[in-house]
Amino acid sequence: MTENPVGGRTPLDRLPQWAALAKHREAIGQQHLRELFAADPERGNRYALQVGDLRVDYAKHLINDETLRLLRELAEATGVAELRDAMFRGEKINITENRAVLHTALRAPREAVIEVDGENVVPAVHAVLDKMASFADRVRSGEWKGHTGKQIRNIVNIGIGGSDLGPAMAYEVLRSYSRRDLTVRFVSNVDGADLHEAVRDLDAAETLFIVASKTFTTIETITNAVSARDWLLTQLNSGTEAVASHFVALSTNARGVADFGIDVANMFEFWDWVGGRYSYDSAIGLSLMIAIGPDNFRQMLDGFHLVDEHFRTTPAEQNVPLLLGLLGVWYGEFFDAQSHAVLPYSHYLSKFTAYLQQLDMESNGKSVDRQGNPVSWQTGPVVWGTPGTNGQHAYYQLLHQGTKFIPADFIGFAKPVADLRPGLVAQHDLLMANFFAQTQALAFGKTPEEVAAEGVPAELVPHKTFKGNHPTTTILAAELTPSVLGQLIALYEHKVFVQGAVWNIDSFDQWGVELGKVLAKRIEPVLLTGAGAEQLDSSTAALVANYRSLRGR
Ligand code: F6P
Repeated sequence: MTENPVGGRTPLDRLPQWAALAKHREAIGQQHLRELFAADPERGNRYALQVGDLRVDYAKHLINDETLRLLRELAEATGVAELRDAMFRGEKINITENRAVLHTALRAPREAVIEVDGENVVPAVHAVLDKMASFADRVRSGEWKGHTGKQIRNIVNIGIGGSDLGPAMAYEVLRSYSRRDLTVRFVSNVDGADLHEAVRDLDAAETLFIVASKTFTTIETITNAVSARDWLLTQLNSGTEAVASHFVALSTNARGVADFGIDVANMFEFWDWVGGRYSYDSAIGLSLMIAIGPDNFRQMLDGFHLVDEHFRTTPAEQNVPLLLGLLGVWYGEFFDAQSHAVLPYSHYLSKFTAYLQQLDMESNGKSVDRQGNPVSWQTGPVVWGTPGTNGQHAYYQLLHQGTKFIPADFIGFAKPVADLRPGLVAQHDLLMANFFAQTQALAFGKTPEEVAAEGVPAELVPHKTFKGNHPTTTILAAELTPSVLGQLIALYEHKVFVQGAVWNIDSFDQWGVELGKVLAKRIEPVLLTGAGAEQLDSSTAALVANYRSLRGR
């Protein structure tokens, strides 16, 4: 890492490696992917890497060997590998919260030794996983009974952010691995409609609530949990003695759990070195584990671990998360890319991009460096996207012909999921034909000459021209298994890590969510009584007055 003589790190934009990239960008100019492919018939094979079950094709990027070399030099100059090793060692690299960052320990094998403050955390990780597995088995077998003696058939996870998005996403992804006779729902929004819709058709006697909150202070989650408890007790016409068999908690805060009235024996623990958005392979995954079973859950963890090991040990030239992270840095700064699309060609990945939004945007949506100085370079992009073919009939127009520069990831699978009936299996080739066609169209486009040669009238030629040169990564795997899901998520986790390291920001805090929480607390009583409205700015005051009058207050 390049050290600043006065301490701290030399600002990124004063590094010679940064200047070299800027110069290289100018030299590349408007060079087209058509030319890059024409110049190197082997490009499609040379610019592809394999990590676990994932083939990662990066040939359709606006790069050449020189770009890759310069980006790797930047990674070296910014100490990416040193920070990575410090993370894996359990050092407190989340400096603003003075915490270790050890989601990688959540999927480490039993015999691994990873220390925080001199204590090996791996035995505790496996003790909780074992406790989760035994609980999941008891629920799945019907041994765990509700208060009235009925078997549990409905699981409702109450949590928000990292305590919701991970299990909710993974449950969707792995539906075909799930017990289809269990109803599994996720409640996150403090809008009462969320809980209402989640429980309205459920039999309370057969329903287990899992209250998931790292801090156990998050207002949305605690409010929903209190309402769920009221609903349960009303439905069962019971006193609080029913809570024990219908509520369990996932948290780092035993006292908060006990204060809520959940027996801490029914709490599944995790630790402050697990960030919320990195937590779904901790106890936060309990709802998922009940749905898919402990064995599938463990296979998912093995998938995570495989990519952890790849990231930790693979040389820079073949290191996939490093590469993907550096490509994002390249486009963010030198092509002014403001956003990054993630476009899965799998219906089961419908919540995948929403999950990545928290992972990426809460991690790298920062504008001061690790020392607190404002950064003068681009940091994390807006991450967005929905499953592919639906997007094709909605916003792909802008990707192909709009004025924005948007790099995109395409994720697809060779085989459809196992339990589709044959007629639906046959649709898979059509899905994947679209998958391959889109990255081709985005990369190579269609020239005015090609359009005119089709006999298109001259005045329509500009409208039917595709300039191409839109960069994409293609990730292709044989099939969407629990392990492959783990591999994919770990790949993105480490990509986000690489970018945070290069940008010299703390990817593991999230102070930017605090102000809104404080103001909401202040405004809520004003909505109820009107008192204090004069303290508000004139816009908010007028809106609040309007709201109060619409509510008849
Ligand atoms: O408000 C943001 C946040 O702190 C996320 O980082 C976190 O995942 C979410 O809230 C939920 O927090 P908790 O698990 O403590 O309820």
